[in-house]
Amino acid sequence: MTENSAGPASPESGEGSNEATLVRSQERSDKVEADLEKHPGNWRLLTGDRPTGKLHIGHYFGSLANRVRLQEMGIESFLLIADYQVIYDRDGVGDIQDNVMSAVADYLAIGIDPARTTIFTHSALPGLNQLLLPFLSLVTDAELRRNPTVKDELASSDRPMSGLMLTFPVHQAADILFCKANVVPVGQDQLPHIEQARVIARRFDERYGRVDPEHPVFPEPEALLSATPHVLGLDGTKMSKSRGNTIEIGMSADQTAKLIKKAKTDADRHISYDPANRPEVSNLVLLTALCEGADPYQVASEIGDGGSGTLKKRLTASMNDFFEPIRARRQELIADQGHLREVLRAGNRRAGEIADQTLDEVRHAMRMVY
Ligand code: TRP
Repeated sequence: MTENSAGPASPESGEGSNEATLVRSQERSDKVEADLEKHPGNWRLLTGDRPTGKLHIGHYFGSLANRVRLQEMGIESFLLIADYQVIYDRDGVGDIQDNVMSAVADYLAIGIDPARTTIFTHSALPGLNQLLLPFLSLVTDAELRRNPTVKDELASSDRPMSGLMLTFPVHQAADILFCKANVVPVGQDQLPHIEQARVIARRFDERYGRVDPEHPVFPEPEALLSATPHVLGLDGTKMSKSRGNTIEIGMSADQTAKLIKKAKTDADRHISYDPANRPEVSNLVLLTALCEGADPYQVASEIGDGGSGTLKKRLTASMNDFFEPIRARRQELIADQGHLREVLRAGNRRAGEIADQTLDEVRHAMRMVY
């Protein structure tokens, strides 16, 4: 999966969304968060990941754990493995099918429950993909070229802009609107997409009207910017597969120990928690605290003059303890590909039925029922 998935937002992301917009988005999101707790039944949630590699602990602490939390609050959830997104994204992500099945195993291992969270893929849902056509008629190319996330994608891609890359925010709107999701947990970098989906929902209503006079066909989705910890890679830069600085959820205890041993630290022997000035050491402290359910300042002061050797030993032990049950479950799940496939097929069936129903409503609104 990619670094800028719906998870940890990096400080440099969200370009184009100025401070004031961000503050407004956060305030709005805080209201949503409060209502989710009060009225979980009023919400339908959608999240998505691109299957470009194995899920890692940055995904776990940045977004996956939050999804489980929201699921446990009783919010009906949809979890998209965005396999069509990969085809405009980049070359050489490896075996997509393998990445998809591995993601399903990770989800189940960390506590996503397929009875409450529908796990599905783009490519299995003709109804979702067909929404793209009417939606494309509602946006201009200038609007898409201005989208900061499209610009970022283009900058980080090794390909020229394809038609699909230019229009991917519209596809993403279809991802959200096909099931009428009204809440989407995202990092800041994905805010322009939520805005695009809101605009499309509104314009569809203006142009084609309603089937039910009381309600537009599509609700306007809200972004949920939960405060999730911002974990860095083992070299102190953004955690991403392409930088080779990740620890995958499915790695063994030995692999984890080796990677932590090589993690970057600094020359100051005294351990402190100071993310701004000591990003590498602070990140190791933060990871330790997250795995222990402890406070990072407390962890740092306990290690103190023990130095980076002590810190690394403690992180290794804590991380391996924390992920041990998840990894054991993952092993069992991976060994039963038939079961994983059945979970995905059931999710695709369910999501597909919803997509077809929505497409029917769209045809009614557009007066294309024959
Ligand atoms: N674009 C998201 C990413 O890069 C993945 C994604 C696809 C998504 N469709 C979505 C996220 C819909 C939220 C809602 O990781």
